[in-house]
Amino acid sequence: MDIADIRSQIPVLAHTAYMNTGWSGPPPRRVAQAMKDRIDQELEQGPIMPEVLEAGREIQAQARAAAARIFNATVDEVLVTRNTTEGLNIVLSGLDWNQGDEIIICDMEHGSVIAPAQLVGQRYGVTVKVVDLDVQDSSETIVNKIEAAFTPKTRMVFISHILYATGRRMPAEELRRLTKDKGILLMLDGAQTGGHIELDMARSGFDFYSIPGQKWLLGYEGSGALFIRREHLERIHPAHTGGRGIARPADAHNFQPVADSMEKFLGGSVSVPVQAAFLEATRFIEEVGIKNIEQRNLDLAESAKAKLSEIPGVTVTSPSERRDSSGLVSFAVAGQEPDSVVEWLWENHKLVVRQVGYPAAIRASLHFFNTEEEIDLLAGGVRELT
Ligand SMILES: Cc1ncc(COP(=O)(O)O)c(C=O)c1O
Repeated sequence: MDIADIRSQIPVLAHTAYMNTGWSGPPPRRVAQAMKDRIDQELEQGPIMPEVLEAGREIQAQARAAAARIFNATVDEVLVTRNTTEGLNIVLSGLDWNQGDEIIICDMEHGSVIAPAQLVGQRYGVTVKVVDLDVQDSSETIVNKIEAAFTPKTRMVFISHILYATGRRMPAEELRRLTKDKGILLMLDGAQTGGHIELDMARSGFDFYSIPGQKWLLGYEGSGALFIRREHLERIHPAHTGGRGIARPADAHNFQPVADSMEKFLGGSVSVPVQAAFLEATRFIEEVGIKNIEQRNLDLAESAKAKLSEIPGVTVTSPSERRDSSGLVSFAVAGQEPDSVVEWLWENHKLVVRQVGYPAAIRASLHFFNTEEEIDLLAGGVRELT
């Protein structure tokens, strides 16, 4: 991996220590260019000229195929969406829920898990059970806590694969074994995983999985991808749909819904420029190699955790075990509000991190383009402040 060459392709890195990929990744120049090229094509030739339409269809087909590769799933199990949250909502709002069903989430979840789960709960009389976790919990403890919440009414476990606040990698494979045995669905919010760790839907057996384009894949906001295991496709109703969800020809007297295709979730038109960026971003990431990215991010995180935890008053809230870790490194500074640390690092070192809420901390997202020098800048900055 030629880090200097990679960095030269991401303009923002020339003047900023960018450690906020977990919110939105810095786009490589060629990703922006792919979007600009499509915008120019529509600008100069018109949006619905035959060649432009054909090129647009090709971009959408390739973006979908790219998403399938990222998931290691088949193309017909994958949909390009507008973001992670949309994908999660497609599944939750499309399942037939019965009063008394139970969904298990955990307390450290992102709003994109909490809100859709709780709203389904309120609307259909589904009980949302919240499992309380501790940052020190081992994978075994987490699995045991979630298993202890199972009842015969449990229908779904719905958690993030990597927790956004601590960067903890959840024991998803173990949970899959457990849920599968009991006929419980497993849906994973992969907002922090796509482009960050290797995904393998074919092998893992996860039921539903949703990722964004704008974070670790380094695409643009307004793109993401959803995986639905083929065996579940027919039973997920399209809660919103449109012309693309109708078996052709569209006939008002003879409505034939599409039952077993991901297209049924497409309400109407999509942004082809954003999909062009998504496609180019996946190519960029695939060229670097997600396996390599995963290992480099773990190395960077290990180094950051070691350097930060040496600083008096600093508590690292991310896991220490490599197998539980990710490129997200969170830490609290005694006597300092996370917001003011974030602001101080930006103003004094042009270093971009963010504050997270639960548990309250400062979060640095370390992606493959980050360097040891930047980690030294982070640790040095925090040391100065304390
Ligand atoms: C765990 C988690 N879920 C969901 C989201 C929302 O992602 P998106 O904007 O792609 O819907 C984020 C990030 O903001 C996240 O960290």
